[in-house]
Amino acid sequence: MTDNSSRRDFLKVSAVAGVAMSLGASGEQAHARRGKRLPYGANAKRLETVRIGFVGIGGMGGAHFRNLLRIPGAEIRAICDIKESKIKRALNWVAKAGKPTPEVYDRGETDFERMCERDDLDLVFNATPWQFHVPICLAAMKNGKHAATEVPAALTRKDSWKLVDMAEKTGLYCVMMENCCYCRPELMVLNMVRQGVLGEVMHAECGYMHDLRGVKFSRGGEGLWRRDFATKIKGNFYPTHGLGPVAQCMNINRGDCFDYLVSMSTPSRGLQDYASRLKPDDPRRNEKYIQGDVNSSLIKTKKGYTIVLQHDCNLPRPYSRINIVQGTKGIFQGYPDRVFIEGRSPGHKWEEADKYYPEFEHPLWTKHGPTGKGFGHGSMDYIEDYRLIEALRTETLPDMDVYDAASWSCIVEMSQISLENKSRPVDFPDFTRGKWKTNKPLGIIGA
Ligand SMILES: NC(=O)c1ccc[n+]([C@@H]2O[C@H](COP(=O)([O-])OP(=O)(O)OC[C@H]3O[C@@H](n4cnc5c(N)ncnc54)[C@H](O)[C@@H]3O)[C@@H](O)[C@H]2O)c1
Repeated sequence: MTDNSSRRDFLKVSAVAGVAMSLGASGEQAHARRGKRLPYGANAKRLETVRIGFVGIGGMGGAHFRNLLRIPGAEIRAICDIKESKIKRALNWVAKAGKPTPEVYDRGETDFERMCERDDLDLVFNATPWQFHVPICLAAMKNGKHAATEVPAALTRKDSWKLVDMAEKTGLYCVMMENCCYCRPELMVLNMVRQGVLGEVMHAECGYMHDLRGVKFSRGGEGLWRRDFATKIKGNFYPTHGLGPVAQCMNINRGDCFDYLVSMSTPSRGLQDYASRLKPDDPRRNEKYIQGDVNSSLIKTKKGYTIVLQHDCNLPRPYSRINIVQGTKGIFQGYPDRVFIEGRSPGHKWEEADKYYPEFEHPLWTKHGPTGKGFGHGSMDYIEDYRLIEALRTETLPDMDVYDAASWSCIVEMSQISLENKSRPVDFPDFTRGKWKTNKPLGIIGA
């Protein structure tokens, strides 16, 4: 199946047949009929055009949506949102781009299910609030479509397993869109690590440290849903921005695997303080937040390496993802970006990382950085979207897979369990079922 019409036929049948994939007589299909799992991505076939159904076209969704409108081979066929204003805005972007009008799904919070049942989509892309990520990805794959989701992919280990199981059963991709893996310094570090400049990577420190109080209390966008999670979840509910890039440098799920985690949180003050400054009759003053303002987790990998992971979004502070990658030959540290390489840098002194771009700029950035300029978070969102579409068009594995989505995301629940139990260790599930031992490390992602 190398063209879209045969792909369409395949999807039609598989949608009717459901997850069981009770199709013809190929080895894989017979394998599926016997109730065994298909290899991840086994049903991903080369697509000339990637036909997309897009759910949740708000702040971040809007950025992806506009990228997809200009990425070669991407075609938005259907859009879904619960807000008329977001649908109108998206239709306007489509018209301005001179593209065909997509079909609209706007009948409420579960209308994505109707959209997923269409037989002319290859990919369902979602940038909705967190509670919808798993249901949307499952509906997509169940109906024969690849799934792409914003971060975090899931909030619990059980839901993370659901994504893994469904992706393996259907042989489709489930990709969590962690854009920070495509940020310029992170890409350069990956390149340096792959070239052995930092030696054996022993340790990393990372996090998401972003004063989001204004965003959480805004009257639109994330202000409508994100604050609520701080009344329900104590731990790190946004672990993937800092972790994704260092996990790639450390070959997590491709040569190594997260083993266990311990976690601690400070008391919760930042949001309560912020709320206390609202007008006296504002009902948000009565909300009770339980999320610790600064959450710190320590992760040990199966091979013995360590990662410090933080979440710090409720206090006044400048932005940081820390981004320390430390090896036997040197260290990179972000915010501000600096490097020390033994035998090359002056003794015991940092060098500005900028100095290293001419030698270690990642080829992806060289090629696509300028194109993505001005489109969301520098160019990283554009490169991320481009890479996903390119993978589907060239029948190559996306840079991030369902095992990454699951293992990076399940920290939401694990951090909470640890900190509620005096920071006792919590074991990571091995979502790869042992394949991390033989999976090949992610290379220098080609341009
Ligand atoms: N990677 C990044 O840098 C980054 C940045 C911001 C947000 N995000 C992630 O993107 C996602 C969305 O965040 P946002 O900032 O765009 O929020 P947002 O509130 O601006 O957008 C969410 C959109 O989803 C729509 N929506 C809500 N429920 C829906 C449903 N059931 N069906 C269809 N549409 C629905 C809303 O109307 C809205 O348009 C979140 O997962 C968030 O964590 C990622």
